[in-house]
Amino acid sequence: MSITIKSHREIELMRHAGKLLGKTLEQLEKAVKPGMSTWELNKIGDDIIKGYDCIPSFLNYNGYPASICISVNDEVVHGIPKKEVILQEGDIVSIDAGLIYQGYHADAARTVPVGEISENAEKLIQVTKQSFFEGIKYAKQGNHLFEISKAIGAYAESFGYGVVRSLIGHGIGSRLHEDPQIPNFKQRRRGPKIESGMTFAIEPMINEGTWRVYWLDDDWTVCTEDGLLSAHYENTVLITDGEPEILTLL
Ligand code: MF3
Ligand code: CO
Repeated sequence: MSITIKSHREIELMRHAGKLLGKTLEQLEKAVKPGMSTWELNKIGDDIIKGYDCIPSFLNYNGYPASICISVNDEVVHGIPKKEVILQEGDIVSIDAGLIYQGYHADAARTVPVGEISENAEKLIQVTKQSFFEGIKYAKQGNHLFEISKAIGAYAESFGYGVVRSLIGHGIGSRLHEDPQIPNFKQRRRGPKIESGMTFAIEPMINEGTWRVYWLDDDWTVCTEDGLLSAHYENTVLITDGEPEILTLL
């Protein structure tokens, strides 16, 4: 396994995939309302992605049964949309989506408030997002990959938060998950050298309390062990010879 360097043509396709996914997430964020089910939100996302003539990449991925992962409150990631799960005022909801445009993937996630939320919840969402931006300061040609990991983890931990360890970011391209693996916390090694033309899905998952997680019996939904909140922020990023390009932001 090795890290693929994308050609000019591939980069153009990934830029387009990224824009479409950025728009999808923006629309999903706006659609979030107290009283709606996570199943409804999944349906909206599925319709948007198919409306762009793209394929929802999560659907049937290793048997995953929906197009969008929707994780509420203490759910970290990979929550399965359900008609019975109704979003309530004060909840936070993590929306993770992926699509394929002409053979190329984009993958991104946001945690958003449902109506008015607590200050604690708001802060967790902001710090999780900022940890991504702290990380990509190091997403530069010539740096080593785990400088990104270290910066993300150090920032989140400076607020006393737990950085999820058993799930990590990844390379992305013609496949959803490519090399390299991108942890969100300090590593013993420096990791591979970062080069222009690499594309990464960088995705901090940050918990209000412990970093420890467990899986529900559905074998998908990951939850915080202490029941405290978790937030997720992810973008697909292109390494260039200058600043990184965040493909899934508009
Ligand atoms: N964004 C997640 C990831 O990078 C979602 C994939 S899990 C799936 O791994 F099964 F839902 F596809
Ligand atoms: Co991902």
